[in-house]
Amino acid sequence: MIRNDKITPEGTGDLLFRECEAQNAVIGLLRGVFEKRGYREVRTPGLEFYDVFSSKAAYYRPESMYKLTDNRGRLLTVRPDSTIPIARMTATKLKGSALPIRIYYAQQVFRRQPALRGKRAEIMQMGIELIGDSSFDSDAEILGAAAEALAVCAPSPFRIEIGHVGVFNRLMSLLEAGPEEKESIHRHIAAKNYAALGDVLEGARQSDVADMLRALPGLFGGAEALREARALFRGRDPVLPNMLAYLERVYEILRGLDLKDRIMIDFGLVNQAEYYSSLVFKGYTASSGDAVLSGGRYDGLFKDFGEDLPATGFAFHVDALADGHLQRSRAAADAPPAASAAPKSAAPRLRIALTKGRLEGEVVEMLRAAGYDVGPLQTKGRRLLLPMPGTGIEVVLAKAADVITYVEHGVCDVGVVGKDTIAEQGGVYYEILDLGVGKCRFALAARAGADFYGGFGAKRVATKYPNVAAAWFESKGMDVEIIRIEGSVELAPLLGLADGIVDIVESGNTLRENGLAVIEEIRAVSARMIVNVASMKLKKKEIDALAAKLQGVRAG
Ligand code: PRP
Repeated sequence: MIRNDKITPEGTGDLLFRECEAQNAVIGLLRGVFEKRGYREVRTPGLEFYDVFSSKAAYYRPESMYKLTDNRGRLLTVRPDSTIPIARMTATKLKGSALPIRIYYAQQVFRRQPALRGKRAEIMQMGIELIGDSSFDSDAEILGAAAEALAVCAPSPFRIEIGHVGVFNRLMSLLEAGPEEKESIHRHIAAKNYAALGDVLEGARQSDVADMLRALPGLFGGAEALREARALFRGRDPVLPNMLAYLERVYEILRGLDLKDRIMIDFGLVNQAEYYSSLVFKGYTASSGDAVLSGGRYDGLFKDFGEDLPATGFAFHVDALADGHLQRSRAAADAPPAASAAPKSAAPRLRIALTKGRLEGEVVEMLRAAGYDVGPLQTKGRRLLLPMPGTGIEVVLAKAADVITYVEHGVCDVGVVGKDTIAEQGGVYYEILDLGVGKCRFALAARAGADFYGGFGAKRVATKYPNVAAAWFESKGMDVEIIRIEGSVELAPLLGLADGIVDIVESGNTLRENGLAVIEEIRAVSARMIVNVASMKLKKKEIDALAAKLQGVRAG
């Protein structure tokens, strides 16, 4: 038997010396900011009853929580979040205390992550909660603390973005649509997937509401986003202008803190924990591909614990800040003495990952048509990192699945990848443009003339896309056995390994020449431009310019 006695579980790890020092340094800086503002520390247990997190609102998906049982067989979870246990604690231990209550915490949370994606399962979080105050001043206080803490911990250029989930919630309550449709609208707004959002909203009965929902992810940027929102909401709904006015006040407060160029507004900021009720915000730094700060107002959460207390707060991802801290101290240690400093080659302003192979030619042609010098891409030899001269853009050539990985981690700002790989791999990034090339479709195919759905036995399906296939058969309520095949999937039914395949079909030649035929189409596929979440905030101008040029040469 293999004993896992010398390694740590995926997503966790030992911290040694400098790593501990970096984490402690960040915690010390944050502690200073919080305590100066009158916040006092609490700590909740690492183990909580599962019921704390499984209220009717189902804030955390059951599959993302680590579960075990106590000595009486009751279900426990390793805390996936700190705000919910603090709400439980406040509603019980601090019941009847003078309000508002100012609390801070520094403790790990644990969340199951997909395998082999380089994501942390154990995350050190540090944050504050201001409980029992619904005034505008309390939001201003929280945002002021967040901004100061971010400036202290992340001297690199940072951004704070603010949004209002009330706008999205209001529009969704007005929209007549089924839960699945609403779920996909939510997903597409969070991913800034304008094309898919447009498709779902097409034909919506309330065209006014659909118009506003369609515009939400694009209401993103500086003060102009507020102006555009004002024009969009005018005369269309009695509630939305109040929410907008609130956000305008928050924006003014932040401007007053001398954060003018570092604040962004995003009405598409809806992918927060579900308990947020109005103001939401996130923070981004140049050294992390994901948000390092996440917070907002959560006035409804305490009701789950029998209290009615307004509250607002945020959490920092301490490990991400500590990584930045380490990177900076390593860079400072490696820097040559000023006198002998050799001229540094300028770092690329934007790095794009292109899927090599099938898509490559069509996308390089689009870049050429858009006016970029693609010479190095056309004469690349075996090189994988290629500059586009005079643009500050560097192109990385990678396999489709790796394009997503590089973009998700923020080592590439932008990626071009097929929707087939996006559907298979998932992940968190923006999917901002359908490039209209690399068009094909997902289909279920089997031997020509075979009755795939006939008989009672469970079918076997071979595929390079097990997640897509499993989700599709699940949606049909059909039990199938899925076998993963890496390529030339058409062989599987021919050799008798499977009854059918789920694969992409372009010309249909491979199917025809091997005696197979499409049984059912699953979905259309084409190349998409995807963008790292933090890059979208820190390099919006460059990314918008690239997207506009590609949009300009996009085939119909
Ligand atoms: C893809 C796909 C099909 C074929 C479809 O394979 O898996 O086999 O292309 O294209 P068609 O409809 O135009 O014939 P790919 O060429 O990427 O190679 P692989 O099967 O080895 O992965």
